[in-house]
Amino acid sequence: MLVMGFIGQAIGQWLKVKDLKKFTTRFKAMTRPGEKITVQGRVVDENETCWICEAETVNEAAEVKVKDTLKLKNNYFYGCSRELTRYVKFVMLIAVLQENLFNNHAVMDEVSKIKGELAMREYVTTKQEINKNSLPYNLYQKAKKFGIWNPVDIDFSQDKEDWKKLNGEQQLELLTQFAQFIGGEEAVTQDILPMIMAVSKKGWFEEESYLTTFLFEEAKHAEFFSLFLEEIGVTEDLTHLLSPGYRKLFDETLPAVMGKLLEDQSPEAMIDAAVTYNIFAEGVLAETGYWFFHEALSRANLFPGFISGIRNVKRDEGRHIGFGTFLIQRLISENPELDLFERVQQRLQELLPIAMMLTERKEGEEVTSLGIERGKSMEFAMKQLQARLTVLSRAKGKTLEEIYNTDIALEEV
Ligand SMILES: [Fe+2]
Ligand SMILES: [Fe+2]
Repeated sequence: MLVMGFIGQAIGQWLKVKDLKKFTTRFKAMTRPGEKITVQGRVVDENETCWICEAETVNEAAEVKVKDTLKLKNNYFYGCSRELTRYVKFVMLIAVLQENLFNNHAVMDEVSKIKGELAMREYVTTKQEINKNSLPYNLYQKAKKFGIWNPVDIDFSQDKEDWKKLNGEQQLELLTQFAQFIGGEEAVTQDILPMIMAVSKKGWFEEESYLTTFLFEEAKHAEFFSLFLEEIGVTEDLTHLLSPGYRKLFDETLPAVMGKLLEDQSPEAMIDAAVTYNIFAEGVLAETGYWFFHEALSRANLFPGFISGIRNVKRDEGRHIGFGTFLIQRLISENPELDLFERVQQRLQELLPIAMMLTERKEGEEVTSLGIERGKSMEFAMKQLQARLTVLSRAKGKTLEEIYNTDIALEEV
């Protein structure tokens, strides 16, 4: 009975009672004086709201004395690796209590020590441990310097005149691109949030610092397109111009893969997110869009305000893609036992049909109303994709320091 009492006391002292949804104890065998009792515990199952834990008290001959089942509200541990340690320590604490059954001072000393450790947050900054050589920190510095352009400062007066010069077919071709872009920018503004949460939970302060600028920039890109459309006099709802390929990516695939990060920060989940978001949506699709704007507008000296804004958007996006490329490399190098590069390739294979859907042209149309040849934009995107895949394929076996020094000059940041 004393063994049971100690476990109950430990739980009462340590966990918040409101988080303990159920606690059952089953007596298995008598504890005799002189026996050394220890407890081993583990998480055996979990559902959406709870962790199911088991703890067994055993003697030196592994004879089970008491078997406990605990049902804990999982927001107590809320998916954080730092918090997960808390559970391990909790189990250790029980073990310590059991080992020191007859030494109350030792028990209380241990309780205070572990409580003290667990109450402390790990601060990168107070330890003077910001890694100033890391690639995310470097991108953060660049973002503070180059990412502060303001869409409201752009003069769209010439753009307004240029818009009027286009015929109906040309306007429709452009509006379709604008609709996909503006919707895409709003979607990625929302969908980057779970990635920020994921790196925060991992305690990657440099990555999180950079991502604060990432979110700001995505919102600004959506604002840029919105202001531009308003200035040239386009006020109608463009939703009907979003294609099935667009819907598939931005309504289904992207939010699903990013939302998963709220619960799952495994290397596989983070790879899936970075490939879909950074390499595919930003790398393959958005870059195809910039190429289109360059070919259709800037070569004809049209829309100077818009083109100047797009130059800034493209540079911001270069940093975003650079971050994604770095993150994938980091995950590949830190988890050599998982074939993550293979996963990158598989994921891209699954996504490429969406790219085909998005760049589809009207039946029989070889050159669009704005002079874009069939297949040219995909050709450009595939070339860019191949260059990034080459960088990613070399990540395995590299150290983090070597990855910090990887040439991301491919991205104009
Ligand atoms: Fe963007
Ligand atoms: Fe972006």
